[in-house]
Amino acid sequence: MPTFNLKDKTVLVTGGGRGIGREIVRQLAGLGAQIIIVGRNQKDLDQVALDHPNQITGIQADLSKHAEVDRIIAEIGKDHPDLSVLINNAGIQFGADLLSDNVKRHIKGARTEIALNVDAVISLSIGLLPVLKAQSRAVVVNISSGLAIGPKENAPVYCATKAAIRSFSIGLRYQCQTSAPHVQVTEAIMDLVNTDMTKGYGDDGMPPQDAATAVVNGVQAGKSEVWVGRTKFLRIINLICPPLARKILRT
Ligand SMILES: NC(=O)c1ccc[n+]([C@@H]2O[C@H](COP(=O)([O-])OP(=O)(O)OC[C@H]3O[C@@H](n4cnc5c(N)ncnc54)[C@H](OP(=O)(O)O)[C@@H]3O)[C@@H](O)[C@H]2O)c1
Repeated sequence: MPTFNLKDKTVLVTGGGRGIGREIVRQLAGLGAQIIIVGRNQKDLDQVALDHPNQITGIQADLSKHAEVDRIIAEIGKDHPDLSVLINNAGIQFGADLLSDNVKRHIKGARTEIALNVDAVISLSIGLLPVLKAQSRAVVVNISSGLAIGPKENAPVYCATKAAIRSFSIGLRYQCQTSAPHVQVTEAIMDLVNTDMTKGYGDDGMPPQDAATAVVNGVQAGKSEVWVGRTKFLRIINLICPPLARKILRT
């Protein structure tokens, strides 16, 4: 895809109130975009918007609930018909030993992960495509993970959701290439990043600012896939020896 200029573009970032999403929002604001951020915590949304009050609008919503996703799709269609970039960033991870007691809790956690990490991403993409494809150029960005290549042992459901998003991104890209070639579908395959999600995982992760820069640069460069940080090596290892890639990711 040709390069994409983000200046004056309207961008929706889910989970823009903290973590990688917040850094993406800050960088987009620096490039002159208009940004709508969605998350559950109004305080976080307000805090991010404070830095660039004329560029950032917060909408509170719990995207693990179908009705809230439908509301966001309707609101964007009505209030932001110029939306040209959707960044599906919000995500959640529950580590769980699924063989341990507390089956009800495991099922509840799994359903929430699937609802936010898969259902909301797919629904927002489908629901906002009519708005996106009406622009002269548009981008859908889905944040997946190196764990889409191979699961880690302590989070099977989370890893399955990211593998689903990888597959969906490829399939949606095929459809856009055929029927709406001006719509770019970018998958960011994320490395370990130091955020609330990975608290307690050690200090091996990359800073969220660097992760966000990789995503924003990838969008501007018109990339289909953005392999962030060490996932570049993972990609090559997986091409040469998939069992080795899975072994590396298991722990
Ligand atoms: N950190 C990593 O190492 C890593 C690695 C690979 C992939 N990723 C992916 O990168 C993305 C961002 O992760 P992160 O590390 O920045 O996570 P994070 O720091 O935990 O932030 C998660 C974001 O998602 C929002 N969110 C959570 N539940 C939500 C819900 N039900 N409805 C709406 N928004 C919700 C949160 O806002 P509220 O709490 O206010 O709702 C927050 O803004 C996720 O898709 C994650 O899977 C992260």
